Amino acid sequence: MTAPEEKNMDELVALCKRRGFVYPASEIYGGLRGFWDYGPLGTALKNNIRDWWWKCMVECPPIGPDGEPVSIVGLDSAIIQNPKTWQHSGHVGGFNDPMVDCTESKKRYRADHVMVYKPIVPAPPMFAFLEGDPKPAEKNAKKQKIDLANYEIVSLLELAHEQYERIIGPDATKPGTLTEPRAFNLMLDTYPGPIRGEENKAYLRPETAQGIFLNFKNVLDTMRVKVPFGIAQIGKSFRNEVTPRNFIFRSREFEQMEMEFFCPPDESQKWYEFWRDERYKWWLTLGVDEKNLILRDHGDDELAHYSSACVDVEYKYPFTAPGYGELEGVAHRGCYDLTAHSKDKQNNKDSNTRLDYFDQELQVRLQNEGVDKDEIKARSRYVPHVIEPASGLTRAVLVLLCEAFTPTPDRQGSKYILSFKPKFAPVKAGIFPLVNKDGMPEVAMKLYNQLRTKHVVEYDAKAAIGKRYARMDEIGTPFCFTIDGDTLTDQTVTVRDRDTLAQERVHLDKVEAFLDAKLAE
Ligand code: GAP
Repeated sequence: MTAPEEKNMDELVALCKRRGFVYPASEIYGGLRGFWDYGPLGTALKNNIRDWWWKCMVECPPIGPDGEPVSIVGLDSAIIQNPKTWQHSGHVGGFNDPMVDCTESKKRYRADHVMVYKPIVPAPPMFAFLEGDPKPAEKNAKKQKIDLANYEIVSLLELAHEQYERIIGPDATKPGTLTEPRAFNLMLDTYPGPIRGEENKAYLRPETAQGIFLNFKNVLDTMRVKVPFGIAQIGKSFRNEVTPRNFIFRSREFEQMEMEFFCPPDESQKWYEFWRDERYKWWLTLGVDEKNLILRDHGDDELAHYSSACVDVEYKYPFTAPGYGELEGVAHRGCYDLTAHSKDKQNNKDSNTRLDYFDQELQVRLQNEGVDKDEIKARSRYVPHVIEPASGLTRAVLVLLCEAFTPTPDRQGSKYILSFKPKFAPVKAGIFPLVNKDGMPEVAMKLYNQLRTKHVVEYDAKAAIGKRYARMDEIGTPFCFTIDGDTLTDQTVTVRDRDTLAQERVHLDKVEAFLDAKLAE
């Protein structure tokens, strides 16, 4: 297995373009920064991950910490909601990242992503760089004949105002060009309706989560659910990211897979730990190596405005290695959101609904325990607490591409392979007649027609067999079935394994079962 440090992102991005996974959006007009189009194979890969998440979260959720099956229902809410949603959720006004501008390079950076080489014994200058990319700073220091051995790396946010004049920005040549961090709103706005003005300004959602909170009461009243239960949603989100970068890692339009799990307040810690562990295990089912995956608790200074605890599932991307970058956050949102959107004379005069829950089972339990009437009343109605596993679907695509991307310099034909776990590969098998004559195409086509009703398989009779294998390797097809001269006499075909190159012979009648078994793993 190739280590993330040895994988070259430029080569992966080129392969994704060349083989129809991801294209720059509106490329023929010069592209648009932060936007990407998913080609036929990228779409297939994304859908495979999406469907697996939906299956594991909604259709067949795990068994909960008490041995009972967890109850989760699905939702597909609108991307544009009443703008009051974002005022009460805290996104208007609160959904800001601190940004710094460079007056020399005219670039803008997220302040919390800028790191600085700071001398241990104070002396000018300091050298700033973007997290994970210290090379420009090291080059600057070398030019000035400064030995960075006497420097420590600190976050830009740790430095005082008067120190800014000594910092050389990540893309600057002289010190003192970085501005103080300023807040920057990340929501993209739009103006539904015929009139374009402040009064009808609305927002493209920056997270799918709020649509779930707005529908809490609807789901409770129309479905046979009771707390604890979850509502899951997959869909597009939009953020006016100031520094979209690292291919599809941080883009301005992306897809999220989020689940809000509503539970009694005094059970929230149990559910937080449960979802933290479940979600980490889920990423392993995608074929991600445990060595490249960690759980990292947020420090108090990192927590979003809504969350009282958060743990990230992080992956060792080639561009963060040997460090890790975020893939999913599991947040304890407490009762922040339901309270914020709840009808309330003092805090929310806009909402017409109280978003709380009457826990009948708890009421009966307390009655049986002989608890005082007033206490039962007070305790049986509450605002549920929320545990939220929130991940990026498009970021998951990147993780599977990075994980699968394997340079194969010694292999004939393909310089790279994508070693996806078979279940997630866009194409599951290639079916080839060895030569396009002598009755082989007919047998191959019959097999193709049999398999295509169940699985995504491709028939290819063109070009030399080595070229056909190479293409399948590069798009990550785990198996190729080749019909050759022997097939016509003994009814067996060659199965070639993408990763090991091992070849075995399987009877034509057993090919479907062979593939079914491999894809079920
Ligand atoms: N509802 C909580 C929430 O949205 P988040 O950590 O901001 O939390 C959740 O986002 C996940 O969405 C992230 O872990 C990441 O995978 C994905 N994500 C966030 N911003 C993204 C962006 N600009 N581009 C691609 N994926 C993004």
